[in-house]
Amino acid sequence: MENLEQSIKLFQENLKDALDNVVTQEQLEQVRVEFLGRHGKIIVLMGQLKTLDADEKRVFGPKLNQLKKTSEQAYKNRKIALEEEVRKLEILKKQQFDVTAYKPTTLEGSIHILSKTYDEIEDIFISMGYKVADGPELETDFYNFEALNIPKDHPSRDSQDTFWFNLPELLLRTQTSTVQIHEMEEHGVPTALISTGRVYRNEATDASHDFIFSQYEGLFVAENISMGNLLATMKTFLQRLFEKKDLDIRVRPGYFPFVEPGIEIDASCPFCKDGCSVCKKTKWIELLGAGLVHPNVLQYCKVDPKKYSGFAFGGGIERLAMVKYGINDIRYFHGANIEFLKQF
Ligand code: PHE
Repeated sequence: MENLEQSIKLFQENLKDALDNVVTQEQLEQVRVEFLGRHGKIIVLMGQLKTLDADEKRVFGPKLNQLKKTSEQAYKNRKIALEEEVRKLEILKKQQFDVTAYKPTTLEGSIHILSKTYDEIEDIFISMGYKVADGPELETDFYNFEALNIPKDHPSRDSQDTFWFNLPELLLRTQTSTVQIHEMEEHGVPTALISTGRVYRNEATDASHDFIFSQYEGLFVAENISMGNLLATMKTFLQRLFEKKDLDIRVRPGYFPFVEPGIEIDASCPFCKDGCSVCKKTKWIELLGAGLVHPNVLQYCKVDPKKYSGFAFGGGIERLAMVKYGINDIRYFHGANIEFLKQF
């Protein structure tokens, strides 16, 4: 008797404490299960009715029913109040959210400066009607040398410059001029192509030499193609690349076995008129090699040199990017130096 009276009191106090302390809907649900659930404390209390005699039952029956009712009501009230509290807290959180306090620390990605330069070169030639061609980096002696009219005793065949495989005839291409041959063999002429890609040279590295670097290669073969076409194309290309309408070009003789005549093309320094550190005070910058496609090369590709003529040009992509963006060491392009990359 006394006991049950006390238990009811204790139940009421404990329930009140528990309800007062909850701050989330999950906690409230735990309290409901513990006190009012199917196996909760209220059921245990009601179970005790059975142990009472008839008189006591008459007193405690209604008391326990009342307790159940008021407890459930207390739970419901708390539930409604809690929902309101949570809602108000949410509003407050939103109102007090300080957008200026949040500073994202994640790094934003960007296109690599070398890829960007590949794209710039390709875009200029695409706009002139050239197609983009691709070729393998693993090559045979035929495509890298022989079909390009590079005689057996030419120094660039020397094993110092070329990475050879322990397999007969296989090497890593040392120049993208290989794409000229693949293209004419596969698709014939007339053709106008631009190709960009990686090349490999077995050389010591320094600020302007790396053993892996990138080249672009252009080839235009059709009827009646002359040096004039080549020079006009090169001037347009370099003016567009350096975004300088008054950029001029200069031509010096150059030797590349797959062109005749072969030339080296310099651009007037895009950064000065009277000499600066970029052009080493010479006002000119050496940029690329070019020439008219050698008849032997056309013949290797089964193109009739009496009917067709053409020009080819090519050079280092890093070299162009270094001049354009003021980069002073070629090794930056393949070093994963985030501070370098972030500048572009
Ligand atoms: N392939 C030459 C080199 O690697 C560049 C070049 C391409 C020269 C096309 C002439 C014509 O230096």
